[in-house]
Amino acid sequence: MTAVDIDARIPNNVGLADDRRLQRALESWQPKFIEWWKELGPVAFQGNDVYLRTAIDVGQEGWANFGHVKMPDYRWGIFLAEPEPDRRVAFGDHQGDPAWQEVPGEYRSDLRRLLVVQGDTEPASVEQQRALCLSAPSVYDLRNLFQVNVEEGRHLWAMVYLLHRYFGRDGRDEADEMLERHSGDVDHPRILGAFNEPTPDWLSFFFFTYFTDRDGKFQLASLRESAFDPLSRTCDFMLKEEAHHMFVGASGIARVVQRTVDLMRENDTTDVNEHGGIDVATLQRYLNLHYSLSLDLFGAETSTNAANYFAAGLKGRFQEERRADDHRLRDATRTVPSVADSTVTTREAPALAALNETLRDDYIADCQKGVDRWNRTLAEVGLELRLPHEGFNRAVGTFRDHRLSPDGRLIDDASWMASVDSWLPTDADRAHVESLMVGVTEPGKMAGWVAAPTTGVHAKPVDYEYVRI
Ligand SMILES: [Fe+2]
Ligand SMILES: [Fe+2]
Repeated sequence: MTAVDIDARIPNNVGLADDRRLQRALESWQPKFIEWWKELGPVAFQGNDVYLRTAIDVGQEGWANFGHVKMPDYRWGIFLAEPEPDRRVAFGDHQGDPAWQEVPGEYRSDLRRLLVVQGDTEPASVEQQRALCLSAPSVYDLRNLFQVNVEEGRHLWAMVYLLHRYFGRDGRDEADEMLERHSGDVDHPRILGAFNEPTPDWLSFFFFTYFTDRDGKFQLASLRESAFDPLSRTCDFMLKEEAHHMFVGASGIARVVQRTVDLMRENDTTDVNEHGGIDVATLQRYLNLHYSLSLDLFGAETSTNAANYFAAGLKGRFQEERRADDHRLRDATRTVPSVADSTVTTREAPALAALNETLRDDYIADCQKGVDRWNRTLAEVGLELRLPHEGFNRAVGTFRDHRLSPDGRLIDDASWMASVDSWLPTDADRAHVESLMVGVTEPGKMAGWVAAPTTGVHAKPVDYEYVRI
């Protein structure tokens, strides 16, 4: 276990001081990162003190430190989880071999690609969210936004370290390109479609952190299984931070739901939009949008790449080692959704080829848990939110060329056009949500569309000065 060097220019537990070349290379990337942060990170509050969590260690206790810091001075560091002694490859054709400490030549380009695609999403989300600080519903929320942002920045560092350390010249070039592609840029967009859409308002932000950061969780969890041990340890530590991002989404929507229910009762109506809230039908449309965009991130139902990554040991399944099968899947099959003869049905596919679908299934089950919690609140007024059918509003995979209703009926274009305004956010919905987005900067005060959180951050009260304004 390499000691934590917390005072280094780049805090790390990877022994950077012992590898001068690597240290110099990363220290020359660092100012480019800071420049990117200032230019494309949050549009305001860069000079304010923000109460942030900073990773300082990877142990069971005390892995993070809380304190006020100006974001450009945040101590982005490189942290890998502690190595597991004698770790073995848990799946695929190399099952049982010692985990790899270096990249095997034959998998170099595939691994590089996996790192680049994962790494690209991290700064992309910071760029997508950069204007939200102007309309935060409270100082508590403003701080949470910045916490998510700085940690996505650290996740970029995590991937850039691996690229620099293990992929030589190509890796350094890829690291530079991470800062050259930008979310929504016509000439140099981010790699994945969902990361080129702006996050225009806080309702979208809460759904994004609930659904899209959760995609991140599942991608990281399957990369944590990787035979390439430095990647596994990197992802293991990133998942600690990721949990907070999903908390921001789950608790954020829970608070919106709570406020909606409160307004319904106070005013004895379901139409709370007139009373400065967001009605359940609008919440459902936003949910439908973000959920379907996030389902696309898992890729097509069957994929040769997914099969190859698994067989090679690069990317496992969610909680691979807890599964009771041979972890090779050479002869296994499963059913995947398909559309045939104008009906939604299933077909048999090789389990290896269908690994995207397997990961998507696990993701869907995880998404449902939060919806169930929100529905406990909504049950008080006899309403509920629902995850739409997997085939609704999809742009990737078997459903791409078909129209499905949220309840999974195959419909024609005319029926889609007739109903889409009740299924996906309309211009009127966006205008209403936009009208509610007024920044609240007095500690403890909340915008009218969202309930206060039940507790503050790190045992501080809700009205704590999380951002000194
Ligand atoms: Fe991340
Ligand atoms: Fe995240």
